Amino acid sequence: MSEITGSTRLFAIVADPIGHVRTPQVFNTRFAAQGTDAVMVPIQVDAAGLPAAFAAFRAMRNLGGFIVTVPHKTSAVALCDEVSEVGREVGAVNTVRREADGRLVADMFDGEGFVAGLRSQAIEPAGRRIYLAGAGGAANAIALSLARAGVAGLTVANRTTRKAEELVERLRKRFPGLDARSGGASPAGHDLVVNATSLGLSPDDALPLDVSALTRDMIVAEIIMKPEETRLLREATRRGCRVHLGRHMLDCQIELMARFMGG
Ligand SMILES: NC(=O)c1ccc[n+]([C@@H]2O[C@H](COP(=O)([O-])OP(=O)(O)OC[C@H]3O[C@@H](n4cnc5c(N)ncnc54)[C@H](OP(=O)(O)O)[C@@H]3O)[C@@H](O)[C@H]2O)c1
Repeated sequence: MSEITGSTRLFAIVADPIGHVRTPQVFNTRFAAQGTDAVMVPIQVDAAGLPAAFAAFRAMRNLGGFIVTVPHKTSAVALCDEVSEVGREVGAVNTVRREADGRLVADMFDGEGFVAGLRSQAIEPAGRRIYLAGAGGAANAIALSLARAGVAGLTVANRTTRKAEELVERLRKRFPGLDARSGGASPAGHDLVVNATSLGLSPDDALPLDVSALTRDMIVAEIIMKPEETRLLREATRRGCRVHLGRHMLDCQIELMARFMGG
């Protein structure tokens, strides 16, 4: 895109706060490289303003779609006209397409993006025993996608244990053959250790799991993107583990999101 004109197609990312997002740069670089007459803009909307923003999106005829991120992924579900099976199961969405008639159709790519990110680095999750720290929106989506990908076992550990137990219950119902259980801070006995909590965003954060139980045969994956090397990844590297960065999940999601929105 060399300039915005009257026929430029509009895409957006909706968040609050918004200053840290890097999705507009990624999409706009992509649009330019493809010669697509489209632009992605950041839109800051708070929780109270979200229903009005969605009503406005329905009326915007040159809007292709938008990405939804923290803190709106859960509340966006009830504001859309159609939600994918994954979005309904996870109870959260992160990408919305505006149809020509104004209907808003949503999907959730956090889990699929994480699994695609692993595969992009030649890590096949099928058959592995996974330790998953976290039971929030991203962790739920990742757990579901890992189970779909055919992992052998999935242990979920979360500060609020009730949320881990509820996730395990859902996994057991949906995937009866999967060895799903809730666990404590130690990742011992697992092949792939995943941090899907928000711990690591700030340098003062506690570690999301007991790193003294990490052994060199384990792969340790982050979903935090900034900083690229979290304290968990530093500790894992020090113990000889292979590490997998948070940005691979986003890189792979971009492709899925773009295809879904038709951008
Ligand atoms: N790489 C990517 O593409 C990508 C995509 C999506 C999200 N993310 C990152 O993933 C992180 C989580 O996102 P989300 O949407 O899942 O958020 P969320 O739904 O708010 O969940 C946050 C999770 O972190 C845990 N947690 C937060 N503070 C904690 C603390 N002080 N001690 C222990 N556990 C704590 C929560 O535990 P409780 O349940 O006990 O509160 C929960 O499991 C975010 O930081 C985001 O940056 C990355």
